[in-house]
Amino acid sequence: MSTLKEILISKKNCKSVWFMRQAGRYLPEFREIRSKNQDFIKLCLNSELSSEITLQPIKRFNLDSAIIFSDILIVPHALEQKVDFKKNMGPQLEEFDYKKFMSINVNSFTKKLNPIYDSITKTRKRLDKKKSLIGFVGAPWTLLVYMLGIKFDKNKINYKKIKEKENEVNLIIDKLNEYLCIHIENQINAGADVIQVFDSWAGLIPQKDFANFCMKPNYKIVNFCKKKKIPIICFPRGINKNYKKFNDFVKPDGISLDYSIDPLWAKSNLKNVAIQGGLNPKILLSSEKDIINEAKIYLDIFKDLPYIFNLGHGLLPETQPDKVGKLIKFYRDY
Ligand code: CP3
Repeated sequence: MSTLKEILISKKNCKSVWFMRQAGRYLPEFREIRSKNQDFIKLCLNSELSSEITLQPIKRFNLDSAIIFSDILIVPHALEQKVDFKKNMGPQLEEFDYKKFMSINVNSFTKKLNPIYDSITKTRKRLDKKKSLIGFVGAPWTLLVYMLGIKFDKNKINYKKIKEKENEVNLIIDKLNEYLCIHIENQINAGADVIQVFDSWAGLIPQKDFANFCMKPNYKIVNFCKKKKIPIICFPRGINKNYKKFNDFVKPDGISLDYSIDPLWAKSNLKNVAIQGGLNPKILLSSEKDIINEAKIYLDIFKDLPYIFNLGHGLLPETQPDKVGKLIKFYRDY
């Protein structure tokens, strides 16, 4: 069994390492492929290239797990809402059409995503058996934020729009939950052995709606994976002390810390779960000494617990690959 799976299933005190956005713009070998493939969604749907990109960080750093190269916004794409990645603008989605969304058929959804499943199958064959292949989805709330186009600033959303259409919003979330479970099941059948759920904008939900928009949808996904006996890690980013509430209610196998969470607080408040991540990705832009000092904090605090070494968010595009290599070497030696 891979160390990642072992940690998640048996909650044994062992360690494993991978990084969010480990396949991405900080790697010259990724930029090389990307420069020849302007359409990002098309690139995700090119199973040969997607598999090659997935394996790039494994070849370079010998990480313990690979995460399939795709995007959380591939789901709105498969639900026939156009998604465009323009340079320095963030993702741009076509205006949401409720009627169209509600009438999508499952076969066409799965058919559109088949190249991802092919990529998973190819990658699983090429990947060392001792390493996990992580499939993933965005949580319904985070997808909704992009699909309704309600984010207007880096960390602000137009919440009035949600409240005005609350009935519709609840139905969209339920429907997304169904599609996400289909996408998860297809990824598992294709060869993914761990699932991660990214709820990147969970921190923007007002407290009174936190249960409805974050905990319940994540709970449904976690239960689905438990039935399939596939371990699942949740990343409800930005929710501060609600991490405890989330963990007690959703009960995922693993929980990924964002970098604002105090690791000591996490250690005493998050129980019966494997903890992942936490390290600020910005630290990788500083000196080797600072990187190692910061990494030590996490490794020391979690030394007697099952811990998945990772970051508190994705690797930044300006990160030097060499620093990532040094961090991994430090982790292995420590
Ligand atoms: O290595 C991996 O982590 C696997 C692949 C992966 C990508 N996106 C590739 C990608 C994963 C797991 C994601 C998840 C994702 N996508 C999230 C959740 C994690 C998080 O960052 O909070 C979110 C919110 C998205 C949506 C998204 N996709 C954004 C906001 C962006 C950045 C837009 C920009 O131009 O900066 C993307 C694009 C994206 N997804 C890139 C990669 C490698 C960069 C695309 C490029 O080369 O231009």
